[in-house]
Amino acid sequence: MAKVLVTGGCGFIGTNLLKYILANRPDWEVVNLDLLTYAGNLENTLELEKLYPQRYSFVRADIADAETIDTVFQEHAFDLVMNLAAESHVDRSIENAGVFIRTNVLGVQVLLDAAVKYSVKKFLHVSTDEVYGSLGSEGRFREDLPLAPNSPYSASKAAADLLVRAYIKTYGLDAVITRCSNNYGPYQFPEKLIPLMVVNAYHERELPVYGDGKNVRDWIYVEDHCRGIVMVAEQGECGEIYNMGGDAEKENIQIVRSILGHLGKTDDLIRYVKDRPGHDFRYAMDFSKIESELGWSPEYDFTGGISRTIDWYLNNKPWWERILSGDYQNYYERMYANR
Ligand code: NAD
Ligand code: TYD
Repeated sequence: MAKVLVTGGCGFIGTNLLKYILANRPDWEVVNLDLLTYAGNLENTLELEKLYPQRYSFVRADIADAETIDTVFQEHAFDLVMNLAAESHVDRSIENAGVFIRTNVLGVQVLLDAAVKYSVKKFLHVSTDEVYGSLGSEGRFREDLPLAPNSPYSASKAAADLLVRAYIKTYGLDAVITRCSNNYGPYQFPEKLIPLMVVNAYHERELPVYGDGKNVRDWIYVEDHCRGIVMVAEQGECGEIYNMGGDAEKENIQIVRSILGHLGKTDDLIRYVKDRPGHDFRYAMDFSKIESELGWSPEYDFTGGISRTIDWYLNNKPWWERILSGDYQNYYERMYANR
C-alpha cells in the first residue's frame, strides 16, 4: 500500500482526482486534507467514505497551520503528497490577495517543511499555466519560459513553484510540478466561467462577459488533468515541470454561445461587462514534453467534454442550488452589481 496525501480534495479538481485515484489505484490509501473553505464541499466526497472505508479518510485542516500539518504527517508517514489545496479564483484574488498568499505560498512552505522532515518520497505540486502570464495571438507556453504572473492569484502560484524548486535544490526533496490550463467538468464551483454561465443560462439571468469576450483559454476536461497528475506522480523526474493542456483554445464568447445553444436559450442573455483588471489575453499550452516523455495526451475533445459537463450540471441541480443559497449571493452582488 502506498500512503498518499491529497490536499484540497473537496474542491473541483481534488474531488475528481480522488475519484480517479480510488477507482484506478487499488493499492493507494488516501488521506484527503481540506480546510473546507467556501470552495470546499464535503458533500462531494461523502460517497468515497462509504465506497472505500479502508482506503479513504478525511482530515479537516489548514495547510498553513504548521503544528497540525506536522501532527498529520507524523501520524501517517506519507509516501506521496499531492498538493491541490489553494485559493483558486482570480477575481477573488483581485479583491483580497492576503488569503492567497497565506494558503498558496505559506501553506506550500508548511507542506514542504513537513515533507522534508518526514522523508516523503515524492511531492507533487499542482500549479497552473497562469504563472507564465499572457500570450498574444501567437505561440504557446513551454516549461522553460520565465515566470510572468499578472494577478495576485498567479503570482502566489508562481511563488509556490519557486519554493518547490528551492526545496529540491536545498533539501534534496524529490518533487515535481504540473502546470495545467483551464479545467472544466463536474463539481466546479459556479463562480468560474463555465458553471457560472450554465447556471445563469438555466435561470435566464444575464451572462456577464468580461471586456469584448475575445480572451482565449485552452480548455481541458478535468479527468484528463487528473490522469496526468497521477502519471507525473508515478513517472515524473525530480525537479521537472510538466505542462498539460486540452488543445482546445476558445474565445470566452464562443464558450458562452455554446452553452446558450446547448440549453436552447438566446444570445440576448449575454451582457458585456467591465473587463477584469490585468485580464490575461490568451493562454495556450505546449504539452509536447509530457507527451513524449510520459506518453500523456488529452483524451476528451471539447465538444464531447462540454456536453457531458453541461449535462452534469443539469442533472445535479441540487448540488449547485445548495451552494447558491449561501454566501455566494453576497459574492455575486459584490462582483457583478456595478460593472
Ligand atoms: P478549488 O477552489 O475548487 O478547490 C480548492 C480546495 O482547496 C477547496 O476544497 C478548499 O477548501 C481547499 N483549501 C483552500 N485553502 C485551504 C487551506 N488553507 N488548507 C487546506 N485546504 C484548503 O480549486 P480547483 O479548481 O480544484 O484547483 C485545485 C488546484 O489546481 C489549485 O492549486 C489550482 O491552483 C490548480 N489549478 C486549477 C485549474 C483550474 O482550471 N481550476 C487549472 C490549473 C491549476
Ligand atoms: P475563470 O473561469 O475565472 O478562469 P481564469 O480567469 O483562471 O482563466 O475565467 C475564464 C475566462 O472567462 C477569463 O478570461 C475571464 C472570463 N470570465 C467572464 O468573461 N465572465 C465571468 O463572469 C467569469 C467568471 C469569467
